[in-house]
Amino acid sequence: MIRGCIFDLDGVIVDTARYHYLAWRKLANDLGFDFSEENNERLKGVSRMDSLEILLEVGGLSLPDPQKLALSAAKNSDYLTYIEKMTQADVLPGVTRFLDVLRSAGMKIALGTASKNALTILHRIGLSNAFDSIVDGNRVTKAKPNPEVFLIAADDLGLEPCNCLVFEDAVAGIEAAHRAGMKCIGIGRPEILRKADHVIPDFINANLELVNF
Ligand code: BG6
Ligand code: MG
Repeated sequence: MIRGCIFDLDGVIVDTARYHYLAWRKLANDLGFDFSEENNERLKGVSRMDSLEILLEVGGLSLPDPQKLALSAAKNSDYLTYIEKMTQADVLPGVTRFLDVLRSAGMKIALGTASKNALTILHRIGLSNAFDSIVDGNRVTKAKPNPEVFLIAADDLGLEPCNCLVFEDAVAGIEAAHRAGMKCIGIGRPEILRKADHVIPDFINANLELVNF
């Protein structure tokens, strides 16, 4: 029986996955190589520094740590220029309604994300008070696919992992959910999210039946 739902942020609640891609691609281009959307799939759900490592590997570059720190800061500053323009209208279709449906049914709700910008984003889109627990990149030490983020969220909610359901758009996030002992609904394309227990394109038709599928 599912009693709690844990939502990833980027690409699930808001389409920031696109902004992350644009900012990473700009960085790659500045470094002299291209960065495809296919390569970008590997960055979804992955922490900022781990994302940079993957990007540098794609570009065949090996750089000293201080330079890596400077590059990740530059990427984040570019990313924040997109975030600053976000409003409530940027919440993905059906999300706010579905959160209300869950809350009315007595479901506990948590956010489980690798992002260190989560609070800024929630504030901008007006969902700061929509979650019983917020576990973001400032609270975790191990990035997805490590299950830490979802286990902390379950603990915050006072629930066993088997009573929690995760919503994820990232391959690494689906693996993290499963390693936490939770079922996972993929948001996006089934051919990419093959390991999810169920995949939906978006939350437009999401209802309570989706939770106890
Ligand atoms: C995840 C995104 O939610 O957060 C990743 O899927 C991103 O693409 C990661 O790298 C870290 O985000 P931030 O906002 O802390 O750079
Ligand atoms: Mg995501």
